[in-house]
Amino acid sequence: MGNPISHSRSPQIHQLFAQQCGERIDYSAILVDLGGFAQAVGNFHASGGRGLNVTVPFKEEAFALADTLTPRARLAGAVNTLLLHDNHAIEGDNSDGVGLVTDLQQNQQQTLAGKRILILGAGGAVRGVLGPILEQQPLHITLANRTPSRAEALAEQFQPHGSINGGGYEALNRVAPFEIIINGTSASLAGELPPLPDSLLTGQSFCYDMMYSAEPTPFMRWAAERGVQSSDGLGMLVEQAAESFWRWRQKRPQTKAVIEQIHSM
Ligand code: ATR
Repeated sequence: MGNPISHSRSPQIHQLFAQQCGERIDYSAILVDLGGFAQAVGNFHASGGRGLNVTVPFKEEAFALADTLTPRARLAGAVNTLLLHDNHAIEGDNSDGVGLVTDLQQNQQQTLAGKRILILGAGGAVRGVLGPILEQQPLHITLANRTPSRAEALAEQFQPHGSINGGGYEALNRVAPFEIIINGTSASLAGELPPLPDSLLTGQSFCYDMMYSAEPTPFMRWAAERGVQSSDGLGMLVEQAAESFWRWRQKRPQTKAVIEQIHSM
């Protein structure tokens, strides 16, 4: 469920998982009116729905609607996966952060432990992934955001979970390069790029855009023009879907082939 939803690749991804795992599922995109989320979930549950994914702009509403929350959903402050149990209870989970970490570590071969990581943005998308990234025990996370106070507040909230600080883009002119830079802003959607000094990169840096699109994003082009490896967020999308599928069906799909298939569609 989301709004808009027509661009979603999730129905194709879950269909491929179901075929692979021998599960019979019916997963389709449901466009929900902005004021109609709780009603839509209720109707879906009543008609026999067992689980659903939630995307923009309903992840915070799903968080509020859930009767119980997994610890990672509580930390994220948002829910992208609902489990609709037989006793009418609604469980909220969040697979976004695990999806990102799995894509980075297993598909992109990037170890997070002990690394200096820069994350661009301080909105819901970034908040959703900070817990699972910090769990991998990076050396330090720097958050940079157009509105510096949002990054400062978010960093402060996550300080009990690891080494993290936040500020504006301007401060990036005075820091050492990062091993991993993750773009969690929605700037790519508008074809824009936050102001980033070249000094953030070394030849060994790795850049990751949480967005996915048919064309390389402005952030990926910025990296490529400086000879730095990068990836879009398609792998994260498939990995978060696999984690949701696991929660619903207790079967773990193989993701590599699905990422390749979705990529070539
Ligand atoms: P989401 O759920 O995608 O995180 P959000 O909470 O609205 O959505 O956050 C969007 C993020 O992208 C914010 O960090 C925003 O910066 P501000 O907090 O300063 O608004 C960032 N963002 C959006 N457009 C941007 C742009 N053109 N340049 C830099 N940052 C941008």
